[in-house]
Amino acid sequence: MDYYWVTLLVALLVAIGTHLVRRGRGGGGGGGRGGCVPPGSLGVPLIGHTLGFVRSMRANRVDQFFRDRINCYGAVSKLSLLGKPTALLAGPAANKFVFFNRSLVLGRAASLPHILGERSLLAVHGDDHRRICGALMDFLGPEMLRMYVGRIDAQVRQHLEESWAGRTAVTVHPLMKRLTFDIITALVLGSEKSAVRDALDRDLVNIFEGAMAVPVNLPFTAYRRSILGSRRARLILQGIMREKKTRLQEGKASPNDDLLSRLLSMTDEHGQQLLSNEEIVDNALATVVGAHGSLAALMTFIVRQLADDPATLAAMVEEHEEIVKNKAPGEALVWDDLSKMTFTWRVAQETLRLVPPVFGSSRIALDDIEYKGYCIPKGWQVFWVADVTHRDPGIFPDPAKFDPSRFNTRSMPACSFAAFGAGPRMCPGIDLVRIETLVTMHHLVRNFTWNLASKRNTFVRDPFPSPLHGLPIQLRQAARLC
Ligand code: HEM
Repeated sequence: MDYYWVTLLVALLVAIGTHLVRRGRGGGGGGGRGGCVPPGSLGVPLIGHTLGFVRSMRANRVDQFFRDRINCYGAVSKLSLLGKPTALLAGPAANKFVFFNRSLVLGRAASLPHILGERSLLAVHGDDHRRICGALMDFLGPEMLRMYVGRIDAQVRQHLEESWAGRTAVTVHPLMKRLTFDIITALVLGSEKSAVRDALDRDLVNIFEGAMAVPVNLPFTAYRRSILGSRRARLILQGIMREKKTRLQEGKASPNDDLLSRLLSMTDEHGQQLLSNEEIVDNALATVVGAHGSLAALMTFIVRQLADDPATLAAMVEEHEEIVKNKAPGEALVWDDLSKMTFTWRVAQETLRLVPPVFGSSRIALDDIEYKGYCIPKGWQVFWVADVTHRDPGIFPDPAKFDPSRFNTRSMPACSFAAFGAGPRMCPGIDLVRIETLVTMHHLVRNFTWNLASKRNTFVRDPFPSPLHGLPIQLRQAARLC
């Protein structure tokens, strides 16, 4: 039995039921201000375009799925996804409109906010979002993270020593996932390796499974497994949080030890804990989940690019050798070293342009809103897609070409490079992404060269891009790790 099709069938039945109930109540949510909704079609009643959308996600053609509609109807169109009428908006102006519009909120139709908990950043709005986001950014911003560069440097070295050194072949994607998991959990929970972290690792697999699944909570669905995985992960986090609280009260821990300690120590103007315990747990989990797959995908695809791009690799090696000239052998990287890695960060940005880990996402319209003369009625979904602007030849000439020098200039239109989103919901992890990627690439390109074991250049989304067979490579190492 293919659970995927059963899930889809159940989802459609749920959608039909919802639709009939709404019709019975005289609702329907599609009328808005009469005939000014965007062009396109809502497809077969209720089923809409859900089958094609879900199929395209599984086959990594989701970018093409959206591009086909844009080619057909233009930069503003309508379709129907997961039982909801949806406006698809494309282009830099559309991205900006979605990112900064107060009448658009992250929707309940998306699975992830539901899975991560009621108080995670992805599930809250307005003042609550500002308060929680501010607390997270206090830890994830450059002022705090600069203190952790040395710790991350040591973790990357240890990882390379344990899992890359002395080998002639490795599979990159699982290793990058392991490295990212170790770094993010050390930042969030503290540096002790433990059985608790291994249990969390197992639950993450389940959580990801449901992130792009049809949100049907029945015993056999991926969505259900995600919900259960998230519940277990939150229990683990609650246990760690209680321990940290006691240690902080006894003066045995510092607020700067890790994210949990920091959040537990933050107070409001009345001296009360700024975030509730539930908010701390949900957002610690959101941080681990947000970081894990996306960051591992970025580093994996940089490795893939460098295997076939000797000019880029040579320029990176030169940049990193220049940095170590002024350091003692084996000396750890510090924050100031990272600011000299400008070319490497452009390589990362160009990789994100061509393979954005987050291909796009949706919002829900709280009111009737207007865009380019069209009405988007209250209750509709609004979808933005990164890939469309990333491959627009008017913004990025010869868009299929890998060319990090595109990012030498700041003159591209606002919101055309949308790998991290923008506005109030912009990714809060961008500084961590920069640090981990730069430190890892620093050690990787100076110590190893590699070839792809398979030339088939293909990947699927799970939901993050995942290369064929995890990207096996043949590895050659410099004399000894330096
Ligand atoms: C290459 C790596 C990453 C990419 C490409 C990425 C991309 C994104 C994008 C595009 C959004 C906005 C989605 C929207 O507007 O609907 C987002 C949000 C988010 N990201 Fe990241 N991300 C990355 C790494 C991280 C890391 C390292 C963390 C945690 C430390 C993180 C945590 C989050 C969270 C919590 C949100 C939700 C923000 C909110 O709703 O206010 N991400 N990310």
